[in-house]
Amino acid sequence: MQTPRHDIYAFIHKGLRAFMAHTLVRVGRLDAHDAAEVAVVSDEVRALLDICTHHLANENRHIHSAMQARQPGACAEVEAEHVAHEHEIAQLRWLLERVPENEQAAQGLYRQLSDFVAHNFEHMGKEEREHNAVLWAHYSDDEIRAIEHAIIANESPEHLQLAIRWMLPHMTPSERAGMLGGMRQTAPAEMFEGVLNLIRPLLGGRDWRKLSLALGI
Ligand SMILES: [Fe+2]
Repeated sequence: MQTPRHDIYAFIHKGLRAFMAHTLVRVGRLDAHDAAEVAVVSDEVRALLDICTHHLANENRHIHSAMQARQPGACAEVEAEHVAHEHEIAQLRWLLERVPENEQAAQGLYRQLSDFVAHNFEHMGKEEREHNAVLWAHYSDDEIRAIEHAIIANESPEHLQLAIRWMLPHMTPSERAGMLGGMRQTAPAEMFEGVLNLIRPLLGGRDWRKLSLALGI
């Protein structure tokens, strides 16, 4: 059996899909006349739009430049989609500010966010199929991991925490144990403990037990 190649998109895209699905459902239930709820959900929408903006900038800067260097033109289609996503994000931010006390705006935000999520789901699938094929044809797994490390090394602690918060609870138990096992070896002990404390309430008891067993904690 062939060893699977390193998939640079797999975990961050799982996290983004989970965050998008969660936020879309939250906006669909939103009571525009409940100021406290509008504030909480608006913060979630802003955090989602921030991480989406940041994610596409990371892909442009780190992944597309690598693809471009060895197969010019290979990411043209996805780059054009990134420009379209930036416009959609600006429109969503504009709509979001109109939501308080405005049911029509809340409905408009829901529909527009639904389109945005749909576009992104297709877009991420395309990256996982077509961009991975280009990366795997031109780069070794070690080189792909080096690109991934460059992305992580440039992250702010806030972005890193948000990404971890959405990635770790939404991967399989063995993926989760693998990622945390790696983190335990490379990150400072307090950071590793902080991540465990962050995700423990987000995991069901069954997943937490599997993780404790796998990590021996
Ligand atoms: Fe992308």
